Amino acid sequence: MPRPVSIRTVRRRSQLVCRWLPLAWLIAGSSLLQGQMLPLPLTARDFQVPGTQVGDVEMGSWPDSNQCSACHANYGGSAEPHSTWSGSLMALGGRDPLFYAQMTTANQDVAEVGRYCLRCHVPNAVVSGHVEQADGGSLDDFDREGVSCQFCHRMVDPDYKPGISPVEDEAILAGLNEIPGAIGNAMFVLDPLDRRRGPYEDNDANHATLASPFHRSSSMCGTCHDVGNVATTRQADGSYTYNALDTPAPDDDPWTHFPLERTYTEWKLSAFAAGVDMGGRFGGLRGPVVSTCQDCHMPTEVGRGCSFGRERNDLGSHAFAGAAVNSLDLIAAHTEDDPSVDQQAIAAGRERALDMLQRAADLELELAGGDIIARITNQSGHKLPTGHIEGRRVWLNLRYLDVQGGLLLEHGHYDQANGHLDEVSTVVFEMLVGLSDAAAAATGLTAGPTSRMALADTIVKDNRIPPRGYDPVSFATGGAPAVGYDYQPGQHWYEFCSALPAAATHVEATLYYQSLPRHYVEHLRDANTTNDWGDRLYAMYEQSGSGAPVPMVRTRLALGDRLLTDGFED
Ligand code: HEC
Ligand code: HEC
Ligand code: HEC
Ligand code: HEC
Ligand code: HEC
Repeated sequence: MPRPVSIRTVRRRSQLVCRWLPLAWLIAGSSLLQGQMLPLPLTARDFQVPGTQVGDVEMGSWPDSNQCSACHANYGGSAEPHSTWSGSLMALGGRDPLFYAQMTTANQDVAEVGRYCLRCHVPNAVVSGHVEQADGGSLDDFDREGVSCQFCHRMVDPDYKPGISPVEDEAILAGLNEIPGAIGNAMFVLDPLDRRRGPYEDNDANHATLASPFHRSSSMCGTCHDVGNVATTRQADGSYTYNALDTPAPDDDPWTHFPLERTYTEWKLSAFAAGVDMGGRFGGLRGPVVSTCQDCHMPTEVGRGCSFGRERNDLGSHAFAGAAVNSLDLIAAHTEDDPSVDQQAIAAGRERALDMLQRAADLELELAGGDIIARITNQSGHKLPTGHIEGRRVWLNLRYLDVQGGLLLEHGHYDQANGHLDEVSTVVFEMLVGLSDAAAAATGLTAGPTSRMALADTIVKDNRIPPRGYDPVSFATGGAPAVGYDYQPGQHWYEFCSALPAAATHVEATLYYQSLPRHYVEHLRDANTTNDWGDRLYAMYEQSGSGAPVPMVRTRLALGDRLLTDGFED
């Protein structure tokens, strides 16, 4: 359901504010394939992170999510945890063909790295022990539940807070080999006993529960939503180097590792950490001020968390809507014949992801002298886009129309037939990574931009729009710098300028989101020398709409005195 199109008439601005675009980023393919030294011979020890390890939790104590259904499913409504969760990317993580295709190429580049990927994406595999096979070859249906009910609800706050954390936590943490010293990098701690932790002190649950303030904090989500390459370490000059072989990272702070995802850090360093009045744009019935990941991604509902439980007015929705429109289409195609997957739930999850994308940004057009300025404002709680770096991008499409509605000029044209985006004429918000000379020497590849995320050690570009409260210095310290574009302190918007063609009477601007650009999917197909995940991914990509860009917000501007007709028909 697209947002209503807004038509504004032009206010003239006296001075011209147009700054010309930085040079377009031309990425000439990825590093050439020589790679004689690949995979780098890393070991399990290189990917060992503090927290719960295989063997710490017994499988017998770990019911699967179907065993929650008797009471937490099938009573309908958006407050019911099971059906909402079933259509979320986290529930489907263990069945995501994109993930398996990318894990395959990562394993080809770096031996054993798959163990690390699986810890976040298929975390039940730490309980079953199947995480120890880095190619995922031993995963079964128990593992494929992705981030499951039991998983989240057995998570323990690694930072023991006397008087706040459940007292049981002290012994659990004391029993670990190594207690995580920071949030992120899959350094989770699980309760070895089946005590389901949740937000409430008071409940009539038919099972053991513990009241856990951690579950209302962003740190809980940050455990997996901050990802560094733990086989790298940041040096005093800000560069990253590969660690010594067969040795765990010297420091477990994700900020010291090459950034692959920094969503939690971006949030933590933004104004949202303290709370922002967003006027009801997010949060459901919670009220206008939102702060945590849960506030926006688990909006407040009235209803029951259990079919026969009490009615509450502060339930957290388990929809976990993000931006996964393209991925959910792909997963739906992949799981068509899988009886344990609820296709209706995926369709509903797709709708919610679309709705989230439509709330993520504002887009305004303004005439300044002979230029049009398109201002894109990030309204989310982190960079726009955030998360997984490969593939994800947001761009601006601008179309100038004449009085008959004919197209005069277009910036950022996307050709659905061949997946080509005209990047040179517009701004594309994305993060791109590369190989330094040292990494090139160690891998036998060419230095420069790369699609091999497990080997990357340099940020080539990161012009993703920062969140409210952006501070260049702290973001750089947190391993989330802007690269290739200077956002000023507090700047959570971007202004794109373009010269107005003669005869234009209207401008139409659209912001697009895409997570499956064709070059990304083709790379995962062509680089795969191990198994058929690349080919299967490609087939499903074609079958499910080829990652069609998702319109987030659209605005039109009628050019005041140039306007010859007085309306613009939809
Ligand atoms: C990604 C982590 C995650 C997963 C997966 C998850 N939950 Fe939750 N759950 C939470 C968090 C966080 C809260 C507290 C939300 C709040 O109050 O802001 C919560 C709250 C709850 C509650 C309290 C009532 C409510 O709805 O707020 C119940 C019951 C519950 N979850 C059951 C389940 C069941 C059953 C599943 C699987 C179908 C599940 N959860 C999957 C994180 C998760
Ligand atoms: C026999 C029924 C039943 C089954 C099966 C069941 N639960 Fe519950 N659960 C309840 C009831 C009742 C509540 C209390 C709801 C309330 O007070 O809002 C509850 C509450 C919870 C809470 C919230 C705890 C709190 O107070 O914050 C969590 C988390 C939870 N269940 C997780 C699970 C998970 C995970 C499973 C499956 C492994 C599961 N439950 C299976 C009945 C059940
Ligand atoms: C103010 C609301 C808000 C807060 C707070 C917030 N998010 Fe988001 N998030 C959004 C919106 C809107 C989107 C969709 C636009 C986008 O993709 O960035 C989104 C998208 C995402 C995505 C999809 C990634 C992408 O861009 O493709 C992930 C993952 C995510 N959020 C995780 C988190 C986590 C983890 C936290 C807490 C550390 C968090 N969010 C806090 C609003 C919020
Ligand atoms: C055990 C690790 C783990 C935890 C804990 C976790 N997540 Fe996730 N989350 C993931 C993974 C992995 C994915 C992507 C799954 C895939 O497609 O392979 C994901 C996906 C998501 C998405 C969808 C992103 C998109 O592109 O649309 C959202 C939103 C999200 N998580 C929010 C949260 C929130 C909010 C919390 C805390 C309540 C949380 N997550 C806790 C691992 C985790
Ligand atoms: C510390 C946790 C963590 C680790 C380790 C991790 N990821 Fe992820 N990954 C995530 C989260 C969280 C998301 C969801 C964020 C988003 O949607 O942007 C994600 C998203 C992805 C996606 C996009 C999924 C989709 O359908 O959109 C792919 C592909 C992926 N990861 C591959 C990998 C590979 C390959 C590895 C190992 C080399 C890996 N990840 C390691 C947490 C992790």
